[in-house]
Amino acid sequence: MKKVKIALLGIGTVGGGVWEIFQTNKEEISNNCGCQIEVAKILVKDPAKKRDGSIPQHLFTSNFDDIIKDKEIDMVVEVMGGIEPAKQYILTAIGEGKHIVTANKALLANHGDELLEAAKNKGVKLYYEASVAGGIPIIHAIKESLAGNKIQQIMGILNGTTNYILTKMTKDKVDFSEVLKEAQDKGYAEADPTADVEGYDAAHKLTVLASLAFGASVEFQEVYREGISKITPIDIEYAQELGYAIKLLAIGKEKEGVMELRVHPTFIPESHPLASVNDSFNAVFVKGNAVGDLMFYGRGAGDLPTGSAVVGDIIAIVKDIENVKINGYYAHKKLEKKVKPMGH
Ligand code: NAP
Ligand code: HSE
Repeated sequence: MKKVKIALLGIGTVGGGVWEIFQTNKEEISNNCGCQIEVAKILVKDPAKKRDGSIPQHLFTSNFDDIIKDKEIDMVVEVMGGIEPAKQYILTAIGEGKHIVTANKALLANHGDELLEAAKNKGVKLYYEASVAGGIPIIHAIKESLAGNKIQQIMGILNGTTNYILTKMTKDKVDFSEVLKEAQDKGYAEADPTADVEGYDAAHKLTVLASLAFGASVEFQEVYREGISKITPIDIEYAQELGYAIKLLAIGKEKEGVMELRVHPTFIPESHPLASVNDSFNAVFVKGNAVGDLMFYGRGAGDLPTGSAVVGDIIAIVKDIENVKINGYYAHKKLEKKVKPMGH
C-alpha cells in the first residue's frame, strides 16, 4: 500500500484528536483512502514538553524548515492557530507544492481569499472543514451536496464554548465567568477565550460560511458582532419565564444582492429546535431554494469531533492526489449479519 507522509503544525487539543484518530481508526483510514498515512513530523513550540507517550519523540521539531525542506512530506496540517506564523507557514508550504488542511477560522476569516488564491495558483488543495462547527460536515455540504442550490439563509449556533456557558448558566444559575474555566479545561475555548465570549469566533465562522454559501467575498469586519459577556443569569431567568432560551446565533441572509451578516445573543422560543441545542453542540440551519430547510447538528468543538473533520479532509486530499477511486459502497469488511434487532 502506498505511503503518504504528512506533517502536523501543532498538537494541542485538535492535533491531539487527529493523532488519536490515526491510532484508533488506522484500518478504517487506510481502507477509506487506499493508502497508509504517516505523520512524519510535528511542529510544536516546545519539543521537550511532556506529551502523549504514544507519540515518538523524534517526530517533534520546533523548526519549520525541517518540514518545509522534507520533500517526502506531501501535506501540511495546520492546527496551531493564530494568524502569524500560521499564515506564513501555510503560504510557504503552498509555495513548495504541499497540500494544506487547516482548522484555523480566524486565519481564514481574515486572509482566506489570499490563501485560497495562492493554493489555486500553485495547483494544491486547501481544505478547511474543521474551521466551522467542529465535527459537523457543513463546509462539504455547502460546497458539494448543496452546490445545485441558491443558498438564501444560514443560521446557527457556531460556538461551542458560549453554548456550553449559556447552558450551564441556565441550568445552574451561575455567572458566565464561573463556567468559562470549565469550557477551557474541556478544550473548547480558543487560546484567548475573549474570541469565544465576545462573538469573534462565531463571526469568523460566519465569514467563512457566508463567503461559501453566497459565493461572495466577505470581510470579517463587515459582520455585526456582539458576545455574551453582558448576559446575566437574571436575563436567562426572565427569558425562560417568557418561554424563550438565549442563544448566541450567527445569521447570514442574502436577498436581491444584499447580504445581512450578524452574530448576537438571541431570544429563541423554547419550541424552536435551536433552543434545545445544549452544551458544546452546534447546529446550523441552511435554506436553499431547491432543497428547502435543512438542519445540521453535532459536536462543535473538542479534540475528537474537530479531529474527525481534519482527518476527513486529509483523507479527501490523499484520495485525490493518489487518484484513488473508492466510491459509495466499498465493501472491505466481512461482518456477521444479524437478522434480529440488536437492541441498544
Ligand atoms: P492548542 O490546544 O492551543 O494547541 C496549539 C498547538 O500548536 C500546540 O501544540 C502548540 O505547541 C502549537 N503551536 C502554537 N503556536 C506555535 C508556534 N508559533 N510554533 C510552533 N507550534 C506552535 O490549540 P487548539 O485548541 O488545538 O486549536 C488549534 C486550531 O484549531 C486553532 O486555529 C483553533 O481555532 C482551531 N479549532 C479549535 C477547536 C477546538 O475545539 N479546540 C475546534 C475547531 C478549530 P506546544 O504544544 O509546544 O505549546
Ligand atoms: N472555540 C471554538 C468553539 C472551538 O468553542 O466553538 C471550535 O471551533
